[in-house]
Amino acid sequence: MALVTTKDMFKKAYDGGYAVGAFNVNNMEIVQGITEAAGELKSPVILQVSKGARAYANHTYLVKLVEAAVEENPEIPIALHLDHGDTFELCKSCIDGGFTSVMIDASSKSFEDNIALTKQVVEYAHANGVVVEAELGTLAGIEDEVVVEAGHESYTRPEEVEEFVDRTGCDSLAIAIGTSHGAYKFTAEQCTRNADGILVPPPLRFDVLEECIKRLPGFPIVLHGSSSVPQEFVKMVNQYGGNMPDAVGIPEEQLRKAATLAVCKINIDSDIRLAMTGNIRKYFAEHPDHFDPRQYLKPARQAVKDMVAHKIQYVLGSDGKA
Ligand code: G3H
Ligand code: 13P
Ligand code: ZN
Repeated sequence: MALVTTKDMFKKAYDGGYAVGAFNVNNMEIVQGITEAAGELKSPVILQVSKGARAYANHTYLVKLVEAAVEENPEIPIALHLDHGDTFELCKSCIDGGFTSVMIDASSKSFEDNIALTKQVVEYAHANGVVVEAELGTLAGIEDEVVVEAGHESYTRPEEVEEFVDRTGCDSLAIAIGTSHGAYKFTAEQCTRNADGILVPPPLRFDVLEECIKRLPGFPIVLHGSSSVPQEFVKMVNQYGGNMPDAVGIPEEQLRKAATLAVCKINIDSDIRLAMTGNIRKYFAEHPDHFDPRQYLKPARQAVKDMVAHKIQYVLGSDGKA
């Protein structure tokens, strides 16, 4: 199977009550870990590349790595997506350069400016067989150079979604219902603590999601900032010399519920970073004399694979849906 767009993936996910995982890729081990898990579980998957990933690894290297993964996993649909494109030029460069899907994130602009830029990207993308994700509302956290402090995010206004989708022609819509980017999604003040002293975040705004679904029946919704920040990885990082106090994510059961509704794409990056970093720290602590990168990148790649396999089966519900 060649690279696909997300059109068909989302239609099946919407009708089947599951979501497709969109995982950020920055190097070979990450691409391999994700696609080996998806391949073995016969799951569709979206590999997404941020502006920062392109700056780090280079557009051509990333496209070729993804093409290799497609060749190695011929039985599953794989889409290549631009994450948080912030200009028409960046989106155009990815459309011209082999991506099958792009996000134009003009959510920090005014409603009218967001519509104008999104529409411009949609026209070019659709003329080239590429689909477009847009965003309404702002998430807290860090994405590329933009930092939105917790408490300064704004939920999507459901009364705007219909007009936005009609006027832009976008293919999917990212909304803000309380998810957040990064490993520190909420301040301690926004959370309560459980008996073990672990932060419990405020629940997602399912009322906002339900309102959006009512106004956009059948339309695929996207959730960004959906890492769960597994405490086993946070503990591993902290045990082996790291310092990540009060890292907290979105509880898996809330994401599972969203996946059964209209949410067709769930974005995960921070959990990949944590899985790799925890395991590499552990490896270094346990093998201080080793210096071959293959030795410590191997368990890191395996940890990404295990984490993605867990998400596919227990959070996304996309196993067996290829
Ligand atoms: O939403 C942001 C993603 O986690 C990508 O992060 O811009 O540091 O590659 P990055
Ligand atoms: P996390 O930081 O929660 O993994 O979110 C990633 C994301 O939304 C990428 O666009
Ligand atoms: Zn995001």
